[in-house]
Amino acid sequence: MASPTSPRTFHVKSFGCQMNVYDGERMAELLAAQGMTPADARDDADLVVLNTCHIREKATEKVYSDIGRLRREDGSSPLIAVAGCVAQAEGEEIMARAPSVRVVVGPQAYHRLPEMVAEAAAGKRATETDMPAEAKFAALPRRRRSGPSAFLTVQEGCDKFCTYCVVPYTRGAEISRPFADLVEEAKLLVEGGAREITLLGQNVNAWAGEDAKGRATGLAGLAAELAAIPDLARIRYTTSHPADMDEALIAAHGTNAKLMPFLHLPVQSGNDRVLKAMNRSHTAESYLRLLERVRAARPDIALSGDFIVGFPGETDAEFEDTLRIVDAVGYAQAFSFKYSPRPGTPAATMEDHVPAEVMDERLQRLQAALNRDQLAFNRASVGRRCTVLVERRGKHPGQWLGKSPWLQSVHFTGDAAIGDLVEVDLVEAGPNSLAGQPAG
Ligand code: SAH
Ligand code: SF4
Ligand code: F3S
Repeated sequence: MASPTSPRTFHVKSFGCQMNVYDGERMAELLAAQGMTPADARDDADLVVLNTCHIREKATEKVYSDIGRLRREDGSSPLIAVAGCVAQAEGEEIMARAPSVRVVVGPQAYHRLPEMVAEAAAGKRATETDMPAEAKFAALPRRRRSGPSAFLTVQEGCDKFCTYCVVPYTRGAEISRPFADLVEEAKLLVEGGAREITLLGQNVNAWAGEDAKGRATGLAGLAAELAAIPDLARIRYTTSHPADMDEALIAAHGTNAKLMPFLHLPVQSGNDRVLKAMNRSHTAESYLRLLERVRAARPDIALSGDFIVGFPGETDAEFEDTLRIVDAVGYAQAFSFKYSPRPGTPAATMEDHVPAEVMDERLQRLQAALNRDQLAFNRASVGRRCTVLVERRGKHPGQWLGKSPWLQSVHFTGDAAIGDLVEVDLVEAGPNSLAGQPAG
């Protein structure tokens, strides 16, 4: 970038889901490939990329407050680019509301970020929210360095159209990246230091492709191929939809030793009328039967989910069904949200919106139940011996933090380094983490 006003340093800040985190990493790699250097704090950066999330109203409002906060004391601002799902959904509105934003780029177009930044540095404002059918991935630089635990987007977009959700509109139709590209990127991540790879997709288990021999395969086949990478120790995937949980993937939990015993499988509600109004293609009963099959393949599997309370029309009795399914499953961890009406989604125009104070009360009761189960799951792990993938140093000298196979945070003190897989005995459990002792 030759222009005298070209930014030299950048900072990418990602909000929302893990796929946005992945996209943020790829944007940083793109900018670095242009010769720009990352700034530690966004206050120091010439270019700030806000990689945004549109999933709930609060997430969206954050963008505007963040833009305001980037104004410096002397009244100037860094060059601001808004990327991610708010850029896709509200690009024009952002340009109108926030004159300091110079670039708006959607999640399927960010491979164009460097040229758009160059245009902005030359004085233009640039917007790109097309969803080209050809993959942006081909235009991204090769991956070089990675932490011990890396993300790999294998599938993007969503065709499910749950009535509350913006993702089908912000991320577009379901697409699967080709098998060979994914195997290559996984190998680069492992060469760059990754011991664990989490395969990402809005409906990751809808991934479909052809293996090296041209045979049709699903996520189980991809995971089997990745398991053959010698220095890759762990494979995870998220987020799954109950409708795409096929027999091969369930079986893989019993046969692929590198596939970790953890499954994030959102149910959203425990009531069939609400599930139908949400356009979820499962019932409470079919979901529970599915979990039985998963547990038959991998008895120690840790389960996780997402819940929405206060979907339009949800009655007290219908909410009780959600508490009932929580009791029946015993989640190891879960996320729960108050329903947030999103512009353009069918649920936003449904009748009988649930009052805020009712939603608050339901969320509190649900979270109390989920916290109870999370603590119970952690307590039941005490006495287990497992490997912990060391991700970073702890607060105390000689202390390390990492993850158990069941995705619990574990801390222990001993001889280790980041990226090690250490055998530990789990000796003490809290609500959010466990203490371990190196085995032997
Ligand atoms: N593709 C994933 C993740 C979707 S977004 C999936 O289908 O599971 C993550 C979670 O946000 C959803 O599972 C849902 O629980 C929640 N969510 C989505 N839209 C929402 C809305 N309008 N209000 C409240 N929560 C919402
Ligand atoms: Fe949204 Fe439903 Fe698609 Fe998940 S499956 S991204 S909740 S529309
Ligand atoms: Fe948010 Fe977009 Fe992810 S709306 S949850 S960043 S797909």
